[in-house]
Amino acid sequence: MAIERTLSIIKPDATRRNLTGKIAAKFEEAGLRIVASKRIHLSLAQAQAFYGVHKDRPFFGELTEFMASEPVVVQVLEGEGAIAKNREVMGATNPANAADGTIRKEFALSMGENSVHGSDAAETAAVEIAFFFSGLELVG
Ligand code: CMP
Repeated sequence: MAIERTLSIIKPDATRRNLTGKIAAKFEEAGLRIVASKRIHLSLAQAQAFYGVHKDRPFFGELTEFMASEPVVVQVLEGEGAIAKNREVMGATNPANAADGTIRKEFALSMGENSVHGSDAAETAAVEIAFFFSGLELVG
């Protein structure tokens, strides 16, 4: 399988509860390398731009206000099949459906406050990585 890169966001419900390190450890234990990382506080406009694909969904307002409410940690994860592997480590979007041992099973509070975001495909990973990081910031 090819070496891929994917974008991860540790969301405000997790940074607020001081879970950044525990979540990063889950990525590393799964063999994903954190090749870029920064803690930022998104403006509402930035959150709306990032989640633009969901702009017509009923949860768009709640989602973007939450993402702009407190700091997040954005990271680029690298490894074999990193996009699928990260989604496996995160678990299902709704923590009620997440498998044992996954980040969302252990840490998520609800469908909205679900602790992490991860890119869902190669095309979105490229766009989402470029949204937050320049090439110079990616150190493999
Ligand atoms: P994420 O992977 O960040 O992508 C979009 C987010 O919207 C998702 O995780 C959830 O946190 C959030 N969300 C809130 N309500 C819903 C819903 N009903 N269906 C899907 N996603 C939702």
